[in-house]
Amino acid sequence: MTDARLSGEKLTLAYDKRTIAQNLTVAIPDGSFTVIVGPNACGKSTLLRALSRVLTPKDGAVLLDGERISAWPAKRLARTLGLLPQSSIAPDGITVTDLVARGRYPHQGLLRQWSREDERVVAESMDATGVGALADRYVDELSGGQRQRVWIAMALAQQTPILLLDEPTTFLDIAHQIEVLDLCADLHEQGRTVVAVLHDLNHAARYATHLVALHDGRLVAEGAPGDVVTAELVESVFGMPCRVIDDPETGTPLVVPAARRKAVA
Ligand SMILES: Nc1ncnc2c1ncn2[C@@H]1O[C@H](COP(=O)(O)OP(=O)(O)O)[C@@H](O)[C@H]1O
Ligand SMILES: [Mg+2]
Repeated sequence: MTDARLSGEKLTLAYDKRTIAQNLTVAIPDGSFTVIVGPNACGKSTLLRALSRVLTPKDGAVLLDGERISAWPAKRLARTLGLLPQSSIAPDGITVTDLVARGRYPHQGLLRQWSREDERVVAESMDATGVGALADRYVDELSGGQRQRVWIAMALAQQTPILLLDEPTTFLDIAHQIEVLDLCADLHEQGRTVVAVLHDLNHAARYATHLVALHDGRLVAEGAPGDVVTAELVESVFGMPCRVIDDPETGTPLVVPAARRKAVA
């Protein structure tokens, strides 16, 4: 896997005795916008946790730049790879600015205290996610959608070349979903490797440069959305009959669930 900085090799992922995935190998192509799709509980979050060293594989290894991720020093890892978990809980009574500023911790050290550069990156990250106006608000008083954008701002402030986002569009209305996905696409175009778990197959097909489909902890398909998203795959992975047509806006696959009853002409 020469073109992947980040990969999982023959992973066995488990919680205590409960095995979620076995012999799972997945490579994140460098510079890609990789989207992971799959039914509830198939192991998407578990995989992201392993790829970001939150979860230690029972077997196999996660490699980052050719080294086992388990051997990476914590700060160096935090400057290279950022994870936005599926449900993040903010510390009590923290303001938006202070939460976003936490993204700068990996860049600080004993000799390198808070700087104007940190200030600038925090402001820029809040700007990019549209939370600038919320700067002094308490995070726990925000709506789900606002809070989600604050977390993304924090991940942005970390300025990592690799960004893993677990369902970044959950809780957002459709306009904000697209806004967040556009933001991810911008980050990808600026050169970052972005990995996101998404539920909406149509969004996944539109935005992904590389799509990974998981089912029961197994990788069942990967590649360009146009190759991966077929009616057969959707039916076998999600158990839902559908048609796949061309998205009239983008030409990417558009999944149209089969109607419960056929329309009468
Ligand atoms: N901390 C945990 N302890 C035990 N089981 C877990 C834990 N987190 C997730 N699981 C289980 O692992 C399986 C995969 O979960 P997850 O990776 O969160 O799925 P997904 O993100 O695809 O919905 C599920 O059956 C879930 O119940
Ligand atoms: Mg999940």
